[in-house]
Amino acid sequence: MRFKSEIQNLPPYKPAKLITGPASDLVKLSSNENPLGPSPRALAALQAGVAQAHRYPDSASVALRQALADHAGLALDNVICSNGSDELVLLICLAFLAAGDEAVMAEGTFISYKLRTLELGARAVCVPLRDYAHDLEAMAAAITPSTRIVFLCNPNNPTGTASGAAEVEAFLARVPDDVLVVVDEAYIEFVVRPDYPDLLPAIRDGRPNLLLLRTFAKIYGLAGLRLGYAYGPRDLVAYLERARPTFNVNLLAQVAGVAALADSEHVARSRAHADASRAFFLEELRAMGLEPVPSETNFVAVTVGDDGAVSDALRARGFTITPLAGWGLPGLIRISFGTEEQNLAFVAALRTILKG
Ligand SMILES: Cc1ncc(COP(=O)(O)O)c(C=O)c1O
Repeated sequence: MRFKSEIQNLPPYKPAKLITGPASDLVKLSSNENPLGPSPRALAALQAGVAQAHRYPDSASVALRQALADHAGLALDNVICSNGSDELVLLICLAFLAAGDEAVMAEGTFISYKLRTLELGARAVCVPLRDYAHDLEAMAAAITPSTRIVFLCNPNNPTGTASGAAEVEAFLARVPDDVLVVVDEAYIEFVVRPDYPDLLPAIRDGRPNLLLLRTFAKIYGLAGLRLGYAYGPRDLVAYLERARPTFNVNLLAQVAGVAALADSEHVARSRAHADASRAFFLEELRAMGLEPVPSETNFVAVTVGDDGAVSDALRARGFTITPLAGWGLPGLIRISFGTEEQNLAFVAALRTILKG
């Protein structure tokens, strides 16, 4: 076979080290999921929707897009839905990148931006983080006439930091109008800092080059259904719609998404749980003499020495977390918040491992 070198040269896909025994034996704190599970309303909608599984879904996801538009005070044609927001990263790269083009992103951020950029034969310009956060000045300075996209993961996965409004506004002002700015807001519902940028008004005002990525995989607890979306200006959304596979969002994801969005109680519960978990982890990690990175998300990153060895030792005790050497952050691990019971057990295990 003649494979494309852009794809053949990518690192092979390594699924998260998951299961050696039954899944239930391991406490999974490695994928930033919602430990409270899906919204009860979404579960009810799923049960009702199953009987329609022989039907194709609405290829335009109208009910879901309208609900998302209403949620943000935007119009239907400001919204595009996808099979997880990960698929949107691919669609964006397909729609904007070709050989010779550049995409600017952080070094130490969500890996899909880089993989999909390389896949298209474009160059990934990776700008080091500063204090585990995006260095927006350096990123603006990295833009060249070849730049087509800038990815800003805010809050950032895997470090959990968020950039503030003043910094983001100053950054946006420096980006040329013909360079697309993708702000990935997968963790927006967890943000703590009061000056986190609200970029919806810029979409309402018709800013041509801004796209906000969101997901149902985190606070809404629907990671397994694969449902993401983006808010953007009409022309940009219409352009991306051309590249979208017709039935990319399945029927069950659509009904569950509408129900989950309406369940503000479940969102509030999930947010409160993340707040309490964050306070717990920060205190416990500090008490172990560690320096956790301040978190604006449902996970925390912390330096532990040999991240691979600590990860293996945790796994031997029944916990999966994410070692970050492979993300360009050697020595750090990322811990997703679990249930209260899991968090307590995890901290005890980590304390024992670090003492040993
Ligand atoms: C920053 C960020 N963007 C996008 C995604 C992908 O989300 P989805 O499950 O909707 O594809 C993730 C998943 O971990 C993420 O951390």
